[in-house]
Amino acid sequence: MKFEKPAGTNPVDRMHVVGQPHDRIDGPKKTTGTAPYAYEWHDIAPDVAYGYIVDAAIAKGRIISMNTQPALNAPGVFAVVTAENAGPLGKGERNAASLLGGPDIEHYQQAVALVVAETFEQARAAASLVQVEYQREPGAYDLAKEKPSVTTPPEDQPDQDVGDFATAWATAAVKLDAIYTTPDQSHMAMEPHASMAVWEGDKLTLWTSNQMINWAHTDLAETLNIPQENIRVISPYIGGGFGGKLFLRSDALLAALGARAVKRPVKVMLPRPLIPNNTTHRPATIQHIRIGTDRDGKISAIAHDSWSGNLPDGTPETAVNQTRFLYAGAHRHTGLRLARLDLPEGNAMRAPGETPGLMALEIAIDEMATKAGVDPVEFRILNDTQVDPANPDRPFSRRQLIACLRTGAERFGWQQRHATPGEVREGNWLIGMGMAAGFRDNLVAPSGARVALDASGTLTVETDMTDIGTGSYTIIAQTAAEMLGLPLESVDVRLGDSAFPISAGSGGQWGANTSTAGVYAACVKLRESIAKKLGFNPETAVFEAGEICGDGRRVSLREATADGALSAEDKIEFGDLAEKYQQSTFAGHFVEVGVDAATGEIRVRRMLAVCAAGRILNPKTARSQVIGAMTMGIGAALMEELAVDTRQGYFVNHDLAAYEVPVHADIPEQEVIFLDDTDPISSPMKAKGVGELGLCGVSAAIDNAVYNATGVRVRDYPVRLDSLLSELPDVV
Ligand code: MOS
Repeated sequence: MKFEKPAGTNPVDRMHVVGQPHDRIDGPKKTTGTAPYAYEWHDIAPDVAYGYIVDAAIAKGRIISMNTQPALNAPGVFAVVTAENAGPLGKGERNAASLLGGPDIEHYQQAVALVVAETFEQARAAASLVQVEYQREPGAYDLAKEKPSVTTPPEDQPDQDVGDFATAWATAAVKLDAIYTTPDQSHMAMEPHASMAVWEGDKLTLWTSNQMINWAHTDLAETLNIPQENIRVISPYIGGGFGGKLFLRSDALLAALGARAVKRPVKVMLPRPLIPNNTTHRPATIQHIRIGTDRDGKISAIAHDSWSGNLPDGTPETAVNQTRFLYAGAHRHTGLRLARLDLPEGNAMRAPGETPGLMALEIAIDEMATKAGVDPVEFRILNDTQVDPANPDRPFSRRQLIACLRTGAERFGWQQRHATPGEVREGNWLIGMGMAAGFRDNLVAPSGARVALDASGTLTVETDMTDIGTGSYTIIAQTAAEMLGLPLESVDVRLGDSAFPISAGSGGQWGANTSTAGVYAACVKLRESIAKKLGFNPETAVFEAGEICGDGRRVSLREATADGALSAEDKIEFGDLAEKYQQSTFAGHFVEVGVDAATGEIRVRRMLAVCAAGRILNPKTARSQVIGAMTMGIGAALMEELAVDTRQGYFVNHDLAAYEVPVHADIPEQEVIFLDDTDPISSPMKAKGVGELGLCGVSAAIDNAVYNATGVRVRDYPVRLDSLLSELPDVV
């Protein structure tokens, strides 16, 4: 199905099942431990062997020699796989560094060998016996140090200039010129990266934990130099991804290589302390923002430049994206600069681009509102735009930012905020309120599905879409149930298998809208074949309560499948509506914090997100996504930072003891409001993404609240008590 025109009325609009707050249909399996994760397919391969990764002890250079003999002599060891004996390996299109290094080392803790043994403990013990001699080469590890030398944009990411920024900036009545920084961050999904590989002849089956089945499938074929049809990738349950499992990683490749070497199934899990340096992370940014307004606070000039670093084949953090669309202003500039760094590979982490971009921009906007003497909510409303500011002929499909901000202000009690910082106290606590706008693009991509209705009345849906903890199973079941007029319990959803039709996968908050739109397309086909079979007009027939109705007749769907199941396959493909319209999602984030005047301890006390993100397919799972994202925003604001050792080139705090994320005690009252925002331009589902929107802007709202509480403006994340202490008022 080609989606080329805005959606008209369709069966999903009934919202009998779609749009209802159903519990997750995979919930019982998850809560009873019967949903197998990648490391847990015990019944499939009882004779499994265990692989343990040997990782590089330098960040850049070469392996001079490797002695694997002591490991091979160790008890239980079957093999040691290295780049030397693994056979020729390619590199997946989406990997910047090789997943098995040697002799060249591209980053610290790059995998250089896999020890395969009878037990996990034997493999781990033997891995420590592999002797590697390295020749170290100097590398670049310090973004701030590299920044001055990077003066031109990446080839495929040109600067965007609109109007005449320089002149408008020079003549602006009120100006802000400031630098903001965000640190490297790690996804830290609950379930570590893990894979199990089984070869039968030249056919490989890989059970893994991956957000994008098709990307893993194609990149594994490319890396192993074998045909894609010889590989099957299976990943039905995933314990969190956040972008860290978008790509083929070393656990998957090395499980495949290990299993090929020992002719047995092999499991590989990345130990937590390996993950930050061996996998991808969100790259640090240095962001330069200039904003100029007239005396009333109307933006005339806005410029945002962002520097980030990556390995030679890596891409920049696109932190200026939201600045192209969020506010009006005739004269504008945005630019990306990419420094070459020899740190581990930077890549997508939940709302890449907008997350760090808004961390900076939405402080800058708060600072500007203060300078212009305008309330921060009103300042944003004053500078709203309903069109792409670079191309006024290109409207937003839907844009409810103002409604998000107004609703949020009212529900949060924003009018009680004191504009002058440091005025509100409760004992030793300085109390402040802050807010920020949230913005995240709504991306679309083709997505396929297969549906089958059998004689027992069960509707089976198959798609390689993944559920990374988000609720995909449930919203897909809701979509199929709605389309065929069946109860939710009649739908059996099967996900995460490369044997199923290719979906858009779980990434970039496109999963919910596009994967359900693919299921919608397949269901439209199935409805047609049912209608034809039972002599109904497919255009006008209504599917409800297990029956098909039209022209005064009602027939049970069972009659259509009496002589065998009916199935249909289709995919949704998107025309140019995403070019004609800017499709984005919007939020207003409101936060109240308390800062201990003596110690600088920061406690988030209240949070509210008001989201406009198209039709909400399931308010319960969507709310869970948003509160999870808000929690992540607390982490980004107050805790998360991969500390870079700029001499040795690695992330020092590489486990959950030292890389801090919020725990329950850090989380206050969180409230989420979804505005009615049905968007017929996004897809037949009229939905958009929401899982990443919930994070976008949150950390700046917290920073702005800290400013309002204390009068201390922090432009470098995370905001910690040591950023505040020297400037806090004297405690009486
Ligand atoms: Mo997302 S960072 O595309 O999983």
